[in-house]
Amino acid sequence: MLSTKGLNLTMLSIPCVKSQQLHDPQSTKLIAKFENPTQFQEDCDAGYDQFLSRNVVVRHRYFSHFLEQKQDLYEQLLILGVGLDTKPDTLPCLKNKAVYGCDLAVADIQNIYQATGVHTQTKLVACDLENGMDQQFLTRLQAQGFSLTKPTLVLWEGGTFYLSPEAVVHDLSFLNQQLNLVGLLVDYMSSAVFNPPRHEKARRQLDLVAKIGCPWKSFFTPVEIKQLDHKLGFTEINVTAHGKIEQRVFGKVQLDEDIMYLSAAFKSVAGTK
Ligand SMILES: C[S@@+](CC[C@H](N)C(=O)[O-])C[C@H]1O[C@@H](n2cnc3c(N)ncnc32)[C@H](O)[C@@H]1O
Repeated sequence: MLSTKGLNLTMLSIPCVKSQQLHDPQSTKLIAKFENPTQFQEDCDAGYDQFLSRNVVVRHRYFSHFLEQKQDLYEQLLILGVGLDTKPDTLPCLKNKAVYGCDLAVADIQNIYQATGVHTQTKLVACDLENGMDQQFLTRLQAQGFSLTKPTLVLWEGGTFYLSPEAVVHDLSFLNQQLNLVGLLVDYMSSAVFNPPRHEKARRQLDLVAKIGCPWKSFFTPVEIKQLDHKLGFTEINVTAHGKIEQRVFGKVQLDEDIMYLSAAFKSVAGTK
């Protein structure tokens, strides 16, 4: 048995949900050898109407849809705060793409893959997204084969809220300037629900993430998300409230309809619409 001591429990909770709810075989293998991997998931789900489980499924469905629908637009995928995301190893549309993932906890991630014997096609590069999105990070990415000129899609799922709003805007602006960025898939926790907390459940959620050492620091409105996407030069912009997808996937909205906003933004590329 492997111990969860010292690991970022939010990271392990995602394969737990994908194993239980989506029957994702790669996720099942990733958690199989851990002692108590569901601990954070259970605390989080119990305190807030199954928040974590429903949120992970909603995010996964929304982003997988766009990764597939826009597969001819991009040649490589860069995942920010990649954690143990299994999409690069399970989605058919990513099978022939080059996939790069950065994270603060790259050493933990590599240890988990090694200890479990699970293979990932994601090329992992260390980065602190709070203050490390710079030329040196790009150099480390390029050393793994990343191209600054190939059409690139950036996916940032379940991660912006761990950073300050300034860092979120800086990171996306920097990548937009430096890469051939054709698409951006990002989710944001809602200002209206968490800043300040709308109710006791939202307050407890903020206390829980602070207690495990991963406090939430940024919250956005749909207007702010659209303005940012426009400023970055995106022309096709979709911003969807969590509840819209929750309704579609689960047949009912159990969480606050506006608990999170998911966005997919694309640039028109010559020859495409
Ligand atoms: C909730 S997990 C989401 C993982 C993955 N994107 C997914 O959806 O399966 C958040 C991830 O963000 C990473 N993270 C948190 N703060 C970070 C920072 N300052 N820089 C880089 N990564 C960070 C964590 O290590 C963790 O892997």
